[in-house]
Amino acid sequence: MQTSIQIPPVAVALAVDLLTGGNVVAFPTETVYGLGADATRPDAVEMVYRVKGRPPNNPLIIHTADTAAAEHCAGGWNPAAKILAQAFWPGPLTMVLPRGPHICKAACAGLDTMAIRVPNHPIALEILNRFGRPVCAPSANLSGHTSPTSAAHVLAELDGRIPLIVDGGNCTIGLESTVVDMTTDSPRVLRPGAVTLEMIQRQIAAAGLNLAVLSGAPDGSADSPEETRAMASPGLFPRHYAPRTPAFRFSRSSMPGVLNWLKEAGIGRRVILVAFPDLPPIPGVSEVLTLPAGGAACAQQLYATLRRADESGGDVILLEMPELRSGVWAAIEDRMNRAAQELP
Ligand code: TXA
Ligand code: MG
Repeated sequence: MQTSIQIPPVAVALAVDLLTGGNVVAFPTETVYGLGADATRPDAVEMVYRVKGRPPNNPLIIHTADTAAAEHCAGGWNPAAKILAQAFWPGPLTMVLPRGPHICKAACAGLDTMAIRVPNHPIALEILNRFGRPVCAPSANLSGHTSPTSAAHVLAELDGRIPLIVDGGNCTIGLESTVVDMTTDSPRVLRPGAVTLEMIQRQIAAAGLNLAVLSGAPDGSADSPEETRAMASPGLFPRHYAPRTPAFRFSRSSMPGVLNWLKEAGIGRRVILVAFPDLPPIPGVSEVLTLPAGGAACAQQLYATLRRADESGGDVILLEMPELRSGVWAAIEDRMNRAAQELP
């Protein structure tokens, strides 16, 4: 199959035609590019899983053009969901709610819940408005790889597997949406993103709702068995969002360990360093890619930088972890943890 890259307005018309025909199409959102299909058609949903090589137990995110359409799709809605929709939609927040009757079971991996969001991107909204039905869209990469933040990234992942990539330039946020479970008594952030835990807590408190907002897996343990975690949020595998080159993470405070590792395991290997500004030079490193010091800019460029590191022909990537943990840094740290292993 020939994969064509098009820009609006032609691209939007083609995308709507493809979706109407039960086909898949890649399109931009403010977070990352999505691989969309009609969320009410089992054959179309099945194609998304097949194209991505995605395990069938990992549910997709449903996208709608506005909050009214999202409410219509969901099988239940509650006061906290209403507050968060008002505050953050359109935007990088996904809410887990009871699944409505029109949404394919397969899109939700057979669960009785569904994840839904209204994206904040003019092209995505135009496609959703003109198509008029809910669109399920995971990130437009092969399962387990780094999410695409440009049309070129999508092509690198899915060339020959999909008919169309709608080119909307670089994504402005660069990390996948925040996923918050709204089906339990206390909302729980399952995947951190640009809508931070603190922002959600502030909105819930300002609305006078007496609810704690939690984060992480319900059992609070980062190394719970995979099946347990899979039930909390089926897509959150420990290794995900990953480059193909073996990648190891380190923090500035553990530099002696990094230098020792380079002296032993690093000998004869081409080492690519991805680091924040002003890291003292490290002997034995072949190439340095610098991440922006600011949180929003770092989020926006993280995946593109990991892709460049992956393409630079190195044997190993060393990735410096951020020192800050709050706000969007929680999301950056989460993705880095999944992209790279701890240095042995
Ligand atoms: O920013 C985004 O969210 C992008 C753009 C395209 O919208 N999409 C995206 O989709 O990141 P994907 O498939 O790569 O990630 C979906 C996430 C997974 O972590 C999955 O486990 C979670 O949403 N999810 C989906 N349905 C769920 C459910 N019913 N319960 C818990 N988690 C769910
Ligand atoms: Mg993904």
